[in-house]
Amino acid sequence: MIDPQTRISQIKAAGKYLPKHIGEWRNAQATFTEEKLEIFGHPVMEKWEAPYMKELANIVTFNGGKILEVGFGLGISARYIQEHEIEEHIIIEANAEVFVKLEEFAQQAKHKVTPIFGFWQDVVDSLPNDSFDGILFDSVATTEDEVIVYRYSFFEQAYLLLKKGGIFTHYTGEIDIKPDYRQLLNKAGFFNISGTLCSVNPPKDCVYWNEPVILAPIIIK
Ligand SMILES: C[S@@+](CC[C@H](N)C(=O)[O-])C[C@H]1O[C@@H](n2cnc3c(N)ncnc32)[C@H](O)[C@@H]1O
Repeated sequence: MIDPQTRISQIKAAGKYLPKHIGEWRNAQATFTEEKLEIFGHPVMEKWEAPYMKELANIVTFNGGKILEVGFGLGISARYIQEHEIEEHIIIEANAEVFVKLEEFAQQAKHKVTPIFGFWQDVVDSLPNDSFDGILFDSVATTEDEVIVYRYSFFEQAYLLLKKGGIFTHYTGEIDIKPDYRQLLNKAGFFNISGTLCSVNPPKDCVYWNEPVILAPIIIK
């Protein structure tokens, strides 16, 4: 695993910029290429993650129903989610250019998609508690401060938003369930925690993942 402090050092060494304020992300240019999405020159999403996104989509749709997804990116997980029998797919996205892609996706999706523009931190209070059957969280750090906490900062919110028996999954950047990770989930209210290891094949120049497997968590309220 590449730890967050190493990642911050890499970002600075590469002369790349991460905003001081979360709001700068909103109108930043998003560059879409064959293989990836970049914002501020950072690899926000890369296509080698597709098998992992498929696994997360399988997990989050296990109960069907109403699915919340945080972060649209290249829409890979969103497309896999739509292959399952669900009632509604609510997607929160904070970058304006990515949001345009999300709106196009919503228009041709098989199951109802409700796009919400904004940072999850600002919009989740408008969503009802105990209302989702599944939540897939795949955001990225949008400021330097967030590099450390972004994967964990949503846990308590996920617990509130899920129905009893609802399933939470997210991009982990882990290969096992470490005690500190479990503790953070426990603190949010989750105790039914397991996961599967998904095989992936990141290219050698990938700056954020370099293992042949990655943990797909199954976290049940
Ligand atoms: C890793 S990508 C998501 C990849 C997606 N799962 C896929 O399969 O293509 C992360 C996305 O989250 C968005 N994002 C970052 N911070 C966010 C926040 N606080 N709230 C909502 N969206 C956010 C980014 O703009 C980006 O589009």
